[in-house]
Amino acid sequence: MIISIIVAAGENNEIGRANGLLWHLPADMKRFRQLTTGHVIVMGRKTYDSLPKGALPHRTNVVISRNSNLRLPQCTVLNSLQAALTAFADEQEIFIIGGAEIYRQSFPLADRIYLTRVHAEFPDADTFFPPIDPAEWQLIADETPLADETSPYNYSFYTFKRKRV
Ligand SMILES: NC(=O)c1ccc[n+]([C@@H]2O[C@H](COP(=O)([O-])OP(=O)(O)OC[C@H]3O[C@@H](n4cnc5c(N)ncnc54)[C@H](OP(=O)(O)O)[C@@H]3O)[C@@H](O)[C@H]2O)c1
Repeated sequence: MIISIIVAAGENNEIGRANGLLWHLPADMKRFRQLTTGHVIVMGRKTYDSLPKGALPHRTNVVISRNSNLRLPQCTVLNSLQAALTAFADEQEIFIIGGAEIYRQSFPLADRIYLTRVHAEFPDADTFFPPIDPAEWQLIADETPLADETSPYNYSFYTFKRKRV
């Protein structure tokens, strides 16, 4: 199984504020949808709470929570990241979609990172992605769009693969 993290982060690894996102980037949402549709997505309970319409369609939604009584519509609720990885071990690729707590726990286990780097700084951010160490991660794709009039920010789509020694 390939464990993939998918994240959008500012230049200082900012990912959120007040349990919401810091930007509205239609191109990033489209890429997120294309990459994750048909797959298992794993998220923390707070990220689930931030979704405006609940579970994302056409994907197996897995929510991690310590609350064993929690039931959420169209979601599988599990009490640890490891439980999610075990339950879906037969998947070809599984996507960790945040937030910060779940990224932090999955970071040492991940094989790939699909990063949208938003080329701006967000001083009000309160949640962050861990730094991507070039000694550990190899950049295997850089899809920087030439221009995007729908976006207030410039951004790049990067794919990293963990270096294996
Ligand atoms: N830019 C991006 O790509 C992106 C992507 C996703 C999210 N975000 C942002 O990230 C922020 C949310 O991140 P966050 O770090 O605050 O929350 P989070 O990681 O989404 O969720 C944290 C919750 O997950 C559960 N949890 C975490 N570790 C656990 C463990 N080991 N065992 C069982 N349950 C565990 C707990 O739920 P319970 O409290 O229910 O026990 C915890 O409160 C929001 O601002 C969101 O918009 C950004």
